[in-house]
Amino acid sequence: MVAFTARAHTNIALLKYWGKADQKLIIPTTTSISLTLNEFYTETTVEFNDDLANDQITLDHQPLKAKDQKKIINFLDLIRAQANINTYAKVESFNHVPTAAGLASSASAFAALAGASAAAAGLDLTPADLSRLARQGSGSASRSIFGGFVQWDRGTDHQTSVAHPLQEQVDWPIQLLTVIVSDQPKKINSRGGMQNAMQNSPFYQSWVERSNALVKPMQTAINQHDLATLGKIAEQNALEMHAQNMVANPPFFYLTDISWKIINLVQELRENGLKVYATMDAGPNVKIISHPDDTEKIEDALHTILPEITIQVATPGPGLKIWQNGA
Ligand code: PMV
Repeated sequence: MVAFTARAHTNIALLKYWGKADQKLIIPTTTSISLTLNEFYTETTVEFNDDLANDQITLDHQPLKAKDQKKIINFLDLIRAQANINTYAKVESFNHVPTAAGLASSASAFAALAGASAAAAGLDLTPADLSRLARQGSGSASRSIFGGFVQWDRGTDHQTSVAHPLQEQVDWPIQLLTVIVSDQPKKINSRGGMQNAMQNSPFYQSWVERSNALVKPMQTAINQHDLATLGKIAEQNALEMHAQNMVANPPFFYLTDISWKIINLVQELRENGLKVYATMDAGPNVKIISHPDDTEKIEDALHTILPEITIQVATPGPGLKIWQNGA
């Protein structure tokens, strides 16, 4: 059969997904909103081949750890069931994202896998179908099917829990400065972390209510190109997500002393009149939501307190692209 390649860009949530109402289907407890990023992406090639005796999966030319391999095989099983085939697949993936460092590489990984494997299996799916499919690999992947600002509706079942673009072409100045505190894989992955927060935070229900109440104000901020309001809501929501983890019993922390230094600096810069806001995911890295004109000022300030720190500029990026190899 023919090989297909797909490229999917990662996304950073401005309103976070942090808890599952349905573990198996990955239906979240809240609606989330993200920005797809141009600079970080995964490219994956899939070919179903009758000659294979098992699935062959590599990431950056290396075989995967058994646990990660299992996740991909489970996902390929979904595709095989839908396409009514029982052929094994060769999957080659290349990550242009620091893996497992809170930069949501699983989002681009499963979105690219969904696109390439569905096409390689001969399935003709709409972007919404691909979003539902990618969601079952990793929740945040449902949003990486689309470019720009994207909303993943919480929904109540497989059909209704799906992402859709809010603004695909982002033609106003907004960027994320990704400050790489660590590029090591995190100790508690997002799956374990959100489960822990859900079960063990006394304030979890309040997180759900407050988060869902921020959806409309966030949409308005995006529509009005209002960087200050968008950033303020995003920072508040990120801190509330991390607060769930800190008050869980037992507590757990993704943010390190260096993350907090950066968050404090962001507050300081804001007091000095810059429109800068912090958001953090399931890892220690801090993403600074900001105006492109302020990049140098922010980088200089960061390097004053952390001379060695790596900063990557990320701008709004496109949705999933799929092509046939050799075509
Ligand atoms: O899709 P997952 O299982 O990697 O979870 C993503 C969780 C966060 O990145 C922390 C938030 C989000 O909405 O992307």
